[in-house]
Amino acid sequence: MLYVGIDLGTSAVKLLLMDEKGKIRRIVSKEYPLFFPHPGWSEQNPEDWYEKSIEGLKELLAEEDASQVAGISFGGQMHGLVILDENDNVIRPAILWNDGRTTKETDYLNNVIGKETLSACTANIAFAGFTAPKILWVKENEPENFARISKIMLPKDYLAYMLTGTFCTDVSDASGMLLFDVKNRTWSEKMMEICGVRRDQLAQIFESYECVGTVKTEIAKQIGLSDNVKVAAGAGDNAAGAVGTGTVGDGQCTISLGTSGTIFISSDKFGVDRFNALHSFAHADGHYHLMGCMLSAASCNKWWMDGIIGTGDYAGEQKAIDKLGENHVFFLPYLMGERSPLNDPAARGTFIGMTMDTTRADMTQAVLEGVAFALRDSFEVAKALGINITRTKISGGGAKSPLWKKIICNVLGIKVDVVEVEEGPSMGGAMLAAVACGEYPDVVSAAKSIVRIVDTIEPDPELVEKYNARYAQFAQIYPAVKEIFPKIS
Ligand code: XUL
Repeated sequence: MLYVGIDLGTSAVKLLLMDEKGKIRRIVSKEYPLFFPHPGWSEQNPEDWYEKSIEGLKELLAEEDASQVAGISFGGQMHGLVILDENDNVIRPAILWNDGRTTKETDYLNNVIGKETLSACTANIAFAGFTAPKILWVKENEPENFARISKIMLPKDYLAYMLTGTFCTDVSDASGMLLFDVKNRTWSEKMMEICGVRRDQLAQIFESYECVGTVKTEIAKQIGLSDNVKVAAGAGDNAAGAVGTGTVGDGQCTISLGTSGTIFISSDKFGVDRFNALHSFAHADGHYHLMGCMLSAASCNKWWMDGIIGTGDYAGEQKAIDKLGENHVFFLPYLMGERSPLNDPAARGTFIGMTMDTTRADMTQAVLEGVAFALRDSFEVAKALGINITRTKISGGGAKSPLWKKIICNVLGIKVDVVEVEEGPSMGGAMLAAVACGEYPDVVSAAKSIVRIVDTIEPDPELVEKYNARYAQFAQIYPAVKEIFPKIS
């Protein structure tokens, strides 16, 4: 049998076709536009997601026996607010995970409602990109839209709804809404009350590997699928990516270098970081995880390469980088503000330390290192909680660069296990579909059978020492300049 994983990303939807042994048959990617209607705002049209997903499904299966597809599932960009009216029309463009418009609402939740209450109800505090502050923003700024809301959804749940007609979400993605009681895996009555949301406006909750329905007959016909293709709830892209890299069970770590950058630590037990600097979310394997999320990771490199120096030859540019650990230029990667651990939507990208002999390669290196240093900020929070991480996996577009993987390995001072398939969320989505169809008894068994480590990058003690010193310098830059950001944005 065949399984499809759909990774609903921020720049594109990526679709992956896998057989029952986990062997990849084909991958297709379809881009859609991302809109920045104001500095710091970020929106997309849910209709574009659906249209491109159907186009992608057709292309994915064009040369295959589509009737062999048994299941479909998802990894989806998290936290986005999708609102539908009573006729299932999308009311306004989706407000995405990296949108920073909700400073006022986030402050209200954290300071008036209070972090203790939020943490007690949801295991998390408010961050600008989370869904609840966005609901409050719509209520305040677009009351006519707020009044029309019949369904509140997350991005990938819109696809599941369109494909099956089931109004559903999964525990990992629901965790990022700030409306979900993570520990007990259920909606929080108190948070619904605080946000003015009714229970019937929220979806039915599933575990990520549970079947939510089958693909509607008319859509199945259009694509050539059989009339019994199961759709599993899927997961937020980070939890799905963790499944796809085998980061399941207790104490495993994975890093995602996509548009966002995350460090994800799986856990058998529920736990909360005392300062809520890391997110405490449900995992797609039936347990929990902690996660730090930076808002711009591989997107910083893309911005620098495509937008600023104007080249598509990322590997060629990186060839000129030959003095790791000795760069005098630093880059703060806060192009969309920053989430973990700073929680500062006003933060901005910054280059510092250039001299007349600074080269283009130094600047490129600073971008790659700045992302690694910012990941280390969340890594340090995890270490302070007593979590001992000695190795990690890695996935996402940035993971395609051997140099960037080496930098991350040495900035964090841990081993990096390279998995055979670095696709992350789309692979995880396909694996969740396979579990839902009974191909594997559970997510951990699926990961054990399917995920293979093909290489391990070892940290070099001398380089780790150099990077420790550079990180100590990096850590002083944001506190020194942060007061300036709100004045200049
Ligand atoms: C996680 C987060 C991002 C998005 C990216 O909290 O906001 O990783 O899920 O798609």
